[in-house]
Amino acid sequence: MDVVAGLYGIHKKFPGVKALDDVTVELNRGEIHAVLGENGAGKTTLMNILFGLTLPDKGSIRVYGKDVKIKSPSDALKLGIGMVHQHFSLIPTLNVIENFKILSAEKKIDENEILELEKRLNLHVDLNAKVGTLSAGERQRLEVLRLLYFNFNILIFDEPTSVLTPVETDMLLKELRKIVSEGKSIFFISHKLNEVKYVSDRITVLRRGKVVWSGYNDQARVEDLVNYMIGSVSISEKIHDGAYSSSEELLKIEQLRVKGERSNLALNMNESIVVNKNEIVGIAGVAGNGQLELFDAIMGLRKIEKGRIFFNGKEITHLSARDRIEIGIGYIPEDRISTGVAPDLSVKENLLIKLLDSKTIINKLGLLNERKMNEIAEQLIKEYDIRTPSINTPVKNLSGGNLQKVILAREISLKPKLLLAYEPTKGLDVGATFFIRSKLYEYAKNTGSVLIYSEDLEELIQLCDRIYVIYKGDIVAQFNREEFNEYNIGKAMMGLEIKR
Ligand SMILES: Nc1ncnc2c1ncn2[C@@H]1O[C@H](COP(=O)(O)OP(=O)(O)OP(=O)(O)O)[C@@H](O)[C@H]1O
Ligand SMILES: [Mg+2]
Repeated sequence: MDVVAGLYGIHKKFPGVKALDDVTVELNRGEIHAVLGENGAGKTTLMNILFGLTLPDKGSIRVYGKDVKIKSPSDALKLGIGMVHQHFSLIPTLNVIENFKILSAEKKIDENEILELEKRLNLHVDLNAKVGTLSAGERQRLEVLRLLYFNFNILIFDEPTSVLTPVETDMLLKELRKIVSEGKSIFFISHKLNEVKYVSDRITVLRRGKVVWSGYNDQARVEDLVNYMIGSVSISEKIHDGAYSSSEELLKIEQLRVKGERSNLALNMNESIVVNKNEIVGIAGVAGNGQLELFDAIMGLRKIEKGRIFFNGKEITHLSARDRIEIGIGYIPEDRISTGVAPDLSVKENLLIKLLDSKTIINKLGLLNERKMNEIAEQLIKEYDIRTPSINTPVKNLSGGNLQKVILAREISLKPKLLLAYEPTKGLDVGATFFIRSKLYEYAKNTGSVLIYSEDLEELIQLCDRIYVIYKGDIVAQFNREEFNEYNIGKAMMGLEIKR
């Protein structure tokens, strides 16, 4: 076998955690090698070591049969190794083309070539836009395009599809198969097991920093992989108990008009949206049809050109975001890293940041009640299974999925009357995904209402009482639970007429 890159006996410790414990993996020429594991298992750390972002404590790396020391990404790039990062590495103040240039000083950037690649992969990004104005989906497309534009022989994809649409994912996976057939080699990380089964030749499973299984794709079924990742926990598919009664109205949105990032009308609603008390309502739609603007507008983060929003019987159309938090609206936003967390603050501070002026953690003298704060933080860490060495670890040191769990724990624990959840399980492993879905369902039934957007139609069907379909900025269909049907909802998402 023709090994192009190998990591041998790799050890890596961070304060309070052994991220990698004697890990060995090899990448063959022309193969896609998937690396699987729970949130915090060590996948990103391992790939960062191959890319020179992290130095191992022990172990060796061989590339094309030669021992190498990869001390920085520029060493990796020189060896022909490129990487798409889980948390994007783009520079927000530069425009798209300039972000291409920072990857390579030598290669001249040809806009037409980029456009051709965009077209072939159906991954559109506005080349003249500043990266800071792009949505998370667009930034992910850009990361992928940028990597494929350069001629790397060894490619690392760390969760490249977490904010891509199903169609974009499909095209990307096909492209990856094509480029390995041309002799390139790929390490591929994803929590979506169907993607892994579809695209990979070989699979290595990590658990708490150790390799627990490695073999060919056809040697393991999906259930086996889940078992290797999390042990023998069984995950049931059923969450909704079937009972559904619509009660009092909590939120009503009428004829909303909202502009998008580039001043087109992203939302242009003729139909209304209603969320009742104790309901969990889904918004289904293909990315880019106004769902992001809809959620932002409900939270008061975008200017409303026309239309009205009512909450608990009162009009809140022009209320500030702060006042909306005050009256009980909570938000799990799309872009969790730049709007959801303060990276340098600790896990505890990030969990409690929104409670800072509340009576819960301030004592009679107006001082922070340190003991109470620790108690709440520890409780949340336990409940949400946030893997962190301590409550004082800066959140930027957590794995991608565990960072997501911090935001989810915080927003849900504030107990808003209405919880807006945008792609709540993106980046979570199988176990955590099931936990969060159950949590949201329970939340709606016992505490407050939930309005959820998910790219994953199965997720909505599993959880929701009702589903609205958004298409080109308007609501084009509505389904009650007893009418849920993947085919019909999917058709409505494409703007096609449905017969009932
Ligand atoms: N820079 C760092 N400083 C301290 N600890 C770190 C650092 N980077 C990672 N860790 C820790 O190392 C462990 C492995 O993290 P890693 O990011 O590799 O997980 P992962 O498998 O990629 O998880 P996910 O699926 O959530 O992205 C985690 O416990 C994490 O908290
Ligand atoms: Mg990771």
